[in-house]
Amino acid sequence: MKKELDQLFRSTFGKEAQENYFAPGRINLIGEHTDYNGGHVFPAAITIGTYGLAGKRDDRLIRFYSENFSELGIIEVSLDDLSYDKRHDWTNYPKGMIKYLIDAGYQIDQGMDLLFYGTIPNGAGLSSSASIELLMGVIVNDLFQLEVPMLDLVKTGQKVENQFIGVNSGIMDQFAIGMGQKDQAILLDTNTLEYEMVPAAFGDYVIVIMNTNKRRELADSKYNERRAECEKALQLLQTQLPIDSLGELSEETFEANKQLISDERLIRRAKHAITENQRTIKAKNALVQNDLTAFGQLLNASHASLREDYEVTGVELDTLVFAAQDQPGVLGARMTGAGFGGCSIALVQKENVEAFTQKVGQIYLDKVGYSADFYVAKIADGAKKQ
Ligand code: GLA
Repeated sequence: MKKELDQLFRSTFGKEAQENYFAPGRINLIGEHTDYNGGHVFPAAITIGTYGLAGKRDDRLIRFYSENFSELGIIEVSLDDLSYDKRHDWTNYPKGMIKYLIDAGYQIDQGMDLLFYGTIPNGAGLSSSASIELLMGVIVNDLFQLEVPMLDLVKTGQKVENQFIGVNSGIMDQFAIGMGQKDQAILLDTNTLEYEMVPAAFGDYVIVIMNTNKRRELADSKYNERRAECEKALQLLQTQLPIDSLGELSEETFEANKQLISDERLIRRAKHAITENQRTIKAKNALVQNDLTAFGQLLNASHASLREDYEVTGVELDTLVFAAQDQPGVLGARMTGAGFGGCSIALVQKENVEAFTQKVGQIYLDKVGYSADFYVAKIADGAKKQ
């Protein structure tokens, strides 16, 4: 891969790349739609992600090229105008990173030639955008010796999503991609940003990623809608309860006070956030105790809650997940990421993986009319120079 990308950099920019970098994608084992509710998440970085090759320039031009969007050619921007521009397409993500780092006082005073190449399927819900953000962060951090702490790059990435792009996402994706470690999952308390590395050791089992190949259309607006619904539910609970986030509530306290919310739909949204947070903590404990059966059951319960209470699944994800749950050697399955399409994961016994992908793939094709893709997840390090 490195040789091909070096060659591509040469033919695109007519010079050698100075350095090579890589930022992973992520899966989330459990803890979905909890990160903007002050709850826990349990993600891990994966070996598919985004490669970046970079070289400084003597002027103030930044030239971007992505092999994934080769039809767009080289996109040129100036360090003197890093405002959001729809025409600049995917480059708005790295532009936002550079802009916010400069705004924070870091000196990025020369242009760059940048080649990006992602192996994350586009729109698959494996966080290709956070991968690009963190990749840009580690590139400038290294090229300009900025010494930005990784956690600040993580927060800057989230700020790009929230303020530059306009998606009110939480911090999970950037955190997993920035802080990830090989073979470790990260239990993160999004309220305090305290975290714990937990060996992602599944014994005879592997995590299979199942891609619906349904693009997450309208996902951003529905995502923002769910977030607003949770905020509304929280406000109503706050009329009687001294809490700052839904993540602070136990299931018992929620059940005893949910009538404060009055709207049935909002009650279900809050219920998901609260029960999912508890499931995430239980799932981490189950994994530590090597109780994979309990872990798998929590995955199944998470999917049911995302489907019935949070309503972010849809026929594609449900078909994959239910078919997966029915197969021999499967301990659990659920959607992963924001939902509305994208990917799901299943915990599958190694010797069953081939039969599993064949069977689930066929059921999906018959029902949905196009194919799903399957990959065995490998847990990787966070974004860094290669
Ligand atoms: C997206 C967001 C994350 C998180 C998940 C849902 O991936 O970027 O912050 O909210 O959805 O858990």
